[in-house]
Amino acid sequence: MAKNLRNTSTITSLATFFFFFFLILAANADENSNSFSRKLSPKKLGLKREKLSHLHFYFHDIVSGKNPTAVRVAEAQTTNTSATRFGFVAVMDDPLTVGPELSSKRVGSTQGIYASASQSGFALLMAFNFVFTEGKYNGSTLSILGRNPPFSAVREMPIVGGSGVFRFARGYVQARTVSFDLKTGDAVVEYNAYALHY
Ligand SMILES: *[C@@H]1O[C@H](CO)[C@@H](O)[C@H](O)[C@H]1NC(C)=O
Ligand SMILES: *[C@@H]1O[C@H](CO)[C@@H](O)[C@H](O)[C@H]1NC(C)=O
Repeated sequence: MAKNLRNTSTITSLATFFFFFFLILAANADENSNSFSRKLSPKKLGLKREKLSHLHFYFHDIVSGKNPTAVRVAEAQTTNTSATRFGFVAVMDDPLTVGPELSSKRVGSTQGIYASASQSGFALLMAFNFVFTEGKYNGSTLSILGRNPPFSAVREMPIVGGSGVFRFARGYVQARTVSFDLKTGDAVVEYNAYALHY
């Protein structure tokens, strides 16, 4: 009788063991068959050491003339009577050069949008990509999303990502106005970009 009881309990614990064993197996099989994600060592993507790069260039926002590089594409009915031009949206493809003169060497473009997004003081929402065309940066981009009050001496905007040599990028840019033509609205802006990337 006692022997039988012991056997019964052995069988019960064996059964319990196999129940959980198969449960874990099943869970793993399930994970594998429906897998859409996996852990990857950074080395497999060729990521070694994070670098910090400083880029310096000038941005030309040309809104006047026959060939503007920034165009207003939308506005609210109240935009032109608003002190801060609240509600307009512009699309730009602005040249980037190494010097403040438009004729200096071209290193890329700034492609994206900006919109007047403040009702108290003029401030723009900027959402754009720096698209580089020079040397090892050719084809790589840095993506910026930030607030730009253009009449402040220094405006800081976050770098939220990048592509090519700037994969996994993060950092910030600082913009300083070099010249602003009150009549035409054309502007030259100096940019310093600080990006962490691999
Ligand atoms: C508002 O001002 C802009 C820029 O001067 C102009 O292009 C646009 O036609 C004006 N819109 C209206 C509704 O007057
Ligand atoms: C940049 O890359 C494009 C496309 O690969 C190529 O046509 C162009 O000549 C390159 N420019 C420079 C300056 O290397």
